[in-house]
Amino acid sequence: MIGAPVNRPVLEGLRLNVPAHVKHQRLVAWVAEIAALTEAADVVWCDGSDAEYDRLSQQLVDAGTLMKLNPELRPHSFLARSSPSDVARVEDRTFICSQHKDDAGPTNNWMPPAEMRALLQTGRPDGTPALFRGAMRGRTMYVVPFSMGPLGSHISHIGVELTDSPYVAVSMRVMTRMGRGALDVLGTDGEFVPCVHTVGAPLQPGQKDVAWPCNDTKYIVHYPETREIWSYGSGYGGNALLGKKCFALRIASTMGRDQGWLAEHMLVLGVTSPQGKKHHVAAAFPSACGKTNFSMLVPPEGYEGWKVTTIGDDIAWIKPGADGRLYAINPEAGYFGVAPGTNYKTNPNCMDSLKHHVIFTNVALTDDGDVWWEGMSDTPPAHLVDWQGKDWTPAIAKETGAKAAHPNARFTVSAIHNPVLDADWDNAAGVPIDAFIFGGRRSTTVPLVTEARNWVEGVYMAATMGSETTAAAAGQQGVVRRDPFAMLPFAGYNMSDYFQHWLDMGQRVQDSGARAPKIYCANWFRKGADGKFVWPGYGENMRVLEWIIGRSEGQASGQENVFGISPRYEDLRWTGLPFTREQFASVIGIDKAAWQQELKLHAELFAQLAHHLPAELPATKAKLERALGG
Ligand code: OXD
Ligand code: MN
Repeated sequence: MIGAPVNRPVLEGLRLNVPAHVKHQRLVAWVAEIAALTEAADVVWCDGSDAEYDRLSQQLVDAGTLMKLNPELRPHSFLARSSPSDVARVEDRTFICSQHKDDAGPTNNWMPPAEMRALLQTGRPDGTPALFRGAMRGRTMYVVPFSMGPLGSHISHIGVELTDSPYVAVSMRVMTRMGRGALDVLGTDGEFVPCVHTVGAPLQPGQKDVAWPCNDTKYIVHYPETREIWSYGSGYGGNALLGKKCFALRIASTMGRDQGWLAEHMLVLGVTSPQGKKHHVAAAFPSACGKTNFSMLVPPEGYEGWKVTTIGDDIAWIKPGADGRLYAINPEAGYFGVAPGTNYKTNPNCMDSLKHHVIFTNVALTDDGDVWWEGMSDTPPAHLVDWQGKDWTPAIAKETGAKAAHPNARFTVSAIHNPVLDADWDNAAGVPIDAFIFGGRRSTTVPLVTEARNWVEGVYMAATMGSETTAAAAGQQGVVRRDPFAMLPFAGYNMSDYFQHWLDMGQRVQDSGARAPKIYCANWFRKGADGKFVWPGYGENMRVLEWIIGRSEGQASGQENVFGISPRYEDLRWTGLPFTREQFASVIGIDKAAWQQELKLHAELFAQLAHHLPAELPATKAKLERALGG
């Protein structure tokens, strides 16, 4: 890093514009270094204020990146349309550049850090220039300081993203505690995770910009040892909002391994009984499998007096407290959720969160300036402008199959607009976790819910979880892949070491004398012979949730099966839901042949992860095989 005197020109023709309140010399020096490398035309330090948000969003409207929605129908809200080549996370372009390949493990893309740095930062020996060299030419570089987690919490950490995308800057304002507060926590020499982001589309003098600049070449790069993130070529979601997947999961998981805590792809919810007793549950599901819906669940008929409240909808940071129990915070401050499928039946609280102050990306535009997406209403409007800016009608859709909204269309909204936001969502101490749920999207095989008999069995269930792929990541959809802990795309280090870390954390809680949370495996997605979902899901998941918290209280009963303990029909509350014993049997049952096949897939996973695989996992598998009878 080069040294840079504050508030003095450090680069020919470029002022760093360091505000007087910034006292962190290392931060200023790093900003100078990246401005020099990327040849940014200007530097703007974000303060996180409303005035700044309004100024940047107006600038994005003027540039054609954002469109202001009808202020009467959707006040203070915008629509962005991305480039059709930049619509999802790019897992095949995501790299964990640890010193040793084994530390990234077989589930991550890896390149030696020196080679990646040559490619991105310094240039290759053959003279190929570095991708970041001059990448911000003609663009402003925004300095975006943010706190992941409540400001000043002992579980929180600070990051600073340097980005040439004002869309990213405004989105980070919604998704994190961004601005002055984070800088104040940093002080003069606090630690921060440096995150460098460019859309990779430098502008020549006089060149007109496009609405969604990006580059076909994409690199989403993490250096776990130095805790750095470098992202090139995409402006979309987890590729570009670097606090989210890159920091809060990939880098944070390595911090958690080193420091004794957990960074997980989990929602966190509070559930309060009519008697006023509150429990907290953390639940891991792969992307686009209903975490946001579950975290905002509306208890159904028969559950009068019960309340579910949201702490987080996507990511949890979990740390042992002084009493030995595990406490969770939501490191984020907003929701970047999948819009299609969201409606007043599936998630009314989410719909109410989206009434105003929302940035929508890749949804459809109605003729009166509002938004629409598949599943928002049973009958689509007669005419729409689709996510690519083309005319869309139900007839066109029927003929061509064109979707009005992209299947991975998203909303970006602050948590404070959630009507069921938990009173403790911003509590610096976090909330104590009573149960962990791990759920995949499986049309067959996996029962509605099973409780692990002990921590090791729970880790086994989570480690071997499979799920059908969704549109959240580029690539084929609907194929079952193993997604251990719903962390396959997000673990920042060797998956087998990550399993060991979970085993160690469980041991640590038990050694402290505290009660370890119980672990459950859930599947809302089993289908019948007609290809339709059998379990109604959404609010009805409350019935499973009640059983889970009843179990953690030692009250609800269940029945032991080969994998753990599942409820019998009579162990769930059915008031208000016509659901027969036969239907229940078809979502809870264990098909021996299907499970023998499933265990072969577990064996394949374990063969892939053999290096450092904790011995407890194959031992648990052998036990299950014996119970299944070969
Ligand atoms: C997300 C994802 O955006 O998991 O949360 O893809
Ligand atoms: Mn996610």
